[in-house]
Amino acid sequence: MILILLGPPGAGKGTIAQALVKTYSIVQISTGDILRGEVKKGSPVGKEAAGYMNAGKLVPDSIIMDCIGIAVQSKECANGFILDGFPRTIPQADALKDLMRNFNLKLNAVINLEVPEDVLLRRLTSRRTCSNTACQAIYNVHTKPTKKEGVCDACGSPVIQRDDETVDVIKQRLVTYKDKTEPLIKYYEKDPLFHTISGLDAAEVMKELGKIL
Ligand code: AP5
Repeated sequence: MILILLGPPGAGKGTIAQALVKTYSIVQISTGDILRGEVKKGSPVGKEAAGYMNAGKLVPDSIIMDCIGIAVQSKECANGFILDGFPRTIPQADALKDLMRNFNLKLNAVINLEVPEDVLLRRLTSRRTCSNTACQAIYNVHTKPTKKEGVCDACGSPVIQRDDETVDVIKQRLVTYKDKTEPLIKYYEKDPLFHTISGLDAAEVMKELGKIL
């Protein structure tokens, strides 16, 4: 099964992807997580990406396509994968079509999570993420706190606020979303595989996905 999760920052793409991984035994490919891993390692890609990420801008398409090309060819992806945070521009969506054709892969669904902007802002300023790059569990100080403050329930590593989670950067990420990523809704909406779901309630999202997938 191959899925695309679309939606603005804070729509719940990561949260839903992590639930789908458990339900369908498929892999999550989060370009945001891959990039944060590169930043943490201090690799050349990470050094280049950090400037864009911390300014709320998109990382250049060429870097992203290299990351995706490597990820989809890994043996962990043989059973299927969820694209979380990719594609994010029309050129990325075009490049994905070519890549799928070249590897003879078939898309099962494009899911667009819809959430009002005031809710997005509230969620992003109160999100906490596991600092362990192999875990990346997502929490929220209001709706999904860790059992022990500051410690990941799943792996015991510290939970942190991301570098791009200041109010100013979040606002810029929402502007970038509207400008570069929202046009993808028009790009996909005539395709029968495209579905828009309210992202307000994670349990409801999973129920809707159960009907679609
Ligand atoms: P990325 O990491 O992909 O960030 P994002 O798309 O901005 O998405 P988020 O991770 O912020 O939100 P989410 O939708 O996953 O929400 P979550 O589940 O965490 O990208 C970061 C940066 O990397 C980009 O800005 C860009 O620079 C670069 N980048 C990445 N991909 C790129 C690409 N393809 N091209 C170019 N650049 C790229 O939930 C948020 C919070 O809400 C959590 O606290 C969660 O607990 C809570 N929550 C979620 N759902 C619910 C619910 N139903 N009810 C209550 N709370 C909820």
